[in-house]
Amino acid sequence: MKSGIRHMMRRPVMAIIYFCTLTNVLYTVLTRESHWVPVMGLWLIVTIALLFLLYRGLQKNVGIQRTLARRDRTIILQRNELETLAKRVRRTFIELREMQSQLIQAEKMAALAQLTAGIAHELNNPINFIMGGVQGLKTQLDFVSANEEMKQKLENIPAIAEMLGDMELFANAIEAGAVRSAKIVEELVNFSFQDNQYLSYVNLRSYLDSVLILLGGHLGDRIKVYKNFGTIPMVECNIGEINQVFVNVLMNAIQAIQDVGDITVTTCVQKSGFVNVIIRDSGCGIPDAIAERIFDPFFTTREVGKGTGLGLYISYKIIQNHHGHIFFNSEPGKGTEFTISIPVTRDERHPGIIDSDKDLRNLFQCPRWRPKC
Ligand SMILES: Nc1ncnc2c1ncn2[C@@H]1O[C@H](COP(=O)(O)OP(=O)(O)OP(=O)(O)O)[C@@H](O)[C@H]1O
Ligand SMILES: [Mg+2]
Repeated sequence: MKSGIRHMMRRPVMAIIYFCTLTNVLYTVLTRESHWVPVMGLWLIVTIALLFLLYRGLQKNVGIQRTLARRDRTIILQRNELETLAKRVRRTFIELREMQSQLIQAEKMAALAQLTAGIAHELNNPINFIMGGVQGLKTQLDFVSANEEMKQKLENIPAIAEMLGDMELFANAIEAGAVRSAKIVEELVNFSFQDNQYLSYVNLRSYLDSVLILLGGHLGDRIKVYKNFGTIPMVECNIGEINQVFVNVLMNAIQAIQDVGDITVTTCVQKSGFVNVIIRDSGCGIPDAIAERIFDPFFTTREVGKGTGLGLYISYKIIQNHHGHIFFNSEPGKGTEFTISIPVTRDERHPGIIDSDKDLRNLFQCPRWRPKC
């Protein structure tokens, strides 16, 4: 109503006419002049015209208000749509960043495997030479010690007798070194022989061996590794990815040990058809304050440039893809124990797949921390 009057008042000419006639009417009525009837008639006409204008104004205003309300609704709808779109873009961006990081990690592992295979191949030749040479030397020494006449002659020269004794020791040492090198090369080949696309039944213990050998340089003399390998069945998995998990968890364990310490790697079978690989370190432990975040992508406590914070996130994703579980127990200042639990087979009908709360409780045996799903 108010806005209608305002609308009408916007027409000053009409307002002036109205007030003039109103004054006229009042004047003629009060002074009882004889021509009050036409004046009243005129006043009535002007009032009706003004009421009509007022009505039109009101109508127009209601129309405008309706249009504005419609526009408001459209704007709210569009804003909601934009917010949804922005959320989707943000999510896609995060997903892309994660995928990119996973690709980089996968690339790194593939490059590492390729490099390992190359090194192993290159090392095989010289190791064969060393083995061949040592065998030849040992055959010669055996020949000398088997030939009594020659042995007598040589033993008469004390310097040569001593030299022969040393030579035997050296040959044995070289042979032991060459055998160990050959074993390392074999493990390296084992590690690098990964088909990243397909599932296959593998012996996790031998792959753990390979990974430990590969990380030998990081372990050095300061970290003692104890292998507590219980008998486990072959496990159906993508070994390239599982190796990546072993490397990530073991590297974290190594990095958690400041000075000297030990790492124990245990393998065992779970009742519900799962194989467990438990990696325990005597490192700094994980403070409660960060325990819930260590599986988050890009969460790291390492110095800038030293860690991407993706190791555990990627490991979690890999284990999840294998229908397995990864969790940890940690005591700050004493150490951490990570458990990687993988079903023996991916066959959906196999009991390896957890299908009840009871199974889950059996499996986890009350771990303190598990990643959020
Ligand atoms: N065994 C452990 N002992 C103590 N802290 C650990 C252990 N494992 C993980 N952490 C903590 O969890 C964080 C996240 O680990 P994650 O492997 O995801 O990333 P990162 O090791 O920091 O970096 P990246 O593995 O990408 O090089 C680490 O920064 C560390 O603080
Ligand atoms: Mg790490």
